[in-house]
Amino acid sequence: MTILVTGGAGFIGSNFIFYWMKGHPEDRVVCLDKLTYAGNLSTLKPVMEHPKFRFVRGDICDREVVKALFQEERPEVVVNFAAESHVDRSVTGPEVFLQTNVMGTASLLDACRELGVERFHQVSTDEVYGDLPLDRPELFFIEETPLHTSSPYSASKAAADLLALSYHRTYGLPVTISRCSNNYGGYQFPEKFIPLMILNALRDMPLPVYGDGLNVRDWLYVEDHCRAIELILQRGRTGEVYNIGGHNERQNIDIVKLVCKTLGKPESLISYVADRKGHDRRYAIDPEKIHRELGWLPETPFDDGIQRTIQWYLDNKAWWEEIVSGEYQQYYEKMYGNRR
Ligand code: NAD
Ligand code: TYD
Repeated sequence: MTILVTGGAGFIGSNFIFYWMKGHPEDRVVCLDKLTYAGNLSTLKPVMEHPKFRFVRGDICDREVVKALFQEERPEVVVNFAAESHVDRSVTGPEVFLQTNVMGTASLLDACRELGVERFHQVSTDEVYGDLPLDRPELFFIEETPLHTSSPYSASKAAADLLALSYHRTYGLPVTISRCSNNYGGYQFPEKFIPLMILNALRDMPLPVYGDGLNVRDWLYVEDHCRAIELILQRGRTGEVYNIGGHNERQNIDIVKLVCKTLGKPESLISYVADRKGHDRRYAIDPEKIHRELGWLPETPFDDGIQRTIQWYLDNKAWWEEIVSGEYQQYYEKMYGNRR
């Protein structure tokens, strides 16, 4: 079988490629990635020379490129990770989010329709459900929770989900969708919360906590997400949405304190900064459906996963030093320079 993984040079896509190639050595894996600021070819170094792997640099919005690749490779399965993925960037520049996340998904769906696939899987996010209040801990997102987006990022992801479902209903395309909570683990780009705190702490830089730091995210170790996608590809029902999350809710401030403690850094590095516009308060997934139908449960306890993640950044300094020494510096200055 040939599986096309888009966005495979990013955080979750690369982890998924490693996961898939380990568990399915008979499959051919083709990665299509534009290599935006978030894509890093050095991440894929371990598989680059592998005879069952092919990397193609290209934009999912480029219909000619996509069609030619589909004609050449005839993938049976397509997993779409390619996206603009950072909420803060979507607040300052929404347009590219619409382009990649909506039009890019449309281009892939059309190629699947034209050339035929056994499965198109759309990797989505719990952020499409909006947020939950902090004072209602009994509330969780289920698959039927109405879409109620807060940021241009989540709005673009919700649009893509609806489009994918429409291709299932209208054209009978074998589509599945997963909506996962916040991931953490190795290879995550340092603009995201956990790696940003780890790398700033390591360099004795201020740890910028937005607002009051009490926002809650439901953290899942990236490999648990990969395993859930694998199960959905193998046994998930087409036309269905599956929520993925680990009942692992944490306040941002507690994670920052944990990072400080693990690295032996003082909490005086913590710096409360202006809140994110439209900042979602709490995300919390009810993963009952994927547990009941596919037997999925998260396997990595947060305490293990976070230690492994911190260790990963300690062990892979060359990977992140290359990133933080480049254009990331300008991004950081723009986002955090006068965020008081
Ligand atoms: P990421 O930003 O680390 O990686 C995105 C990858 O997509 C990069 O390699 C980038 O080069 C590539 N890309 C961007 N635009 C492209 C285009 N037009 N054509 C081809 N490639 C393009 O993102 P991530 O954190 O790995 O997220 C992957 C997917 O999972 C996204 O769809 C995101 O919405 C979803 N998701 C992420 C999380 C999370 O916590 N990170 C949680 C739930 C869902
Ligand atoms: P982020 O990693 O951007 O993911 P999400 O898509 O859930 O917003 O941020 C996770 C949480 O951490 C979110 O509540 C915003 C907060 N945050 C900070 O407090 N400081 C930061 O520098 C960043 C990047 C995020």
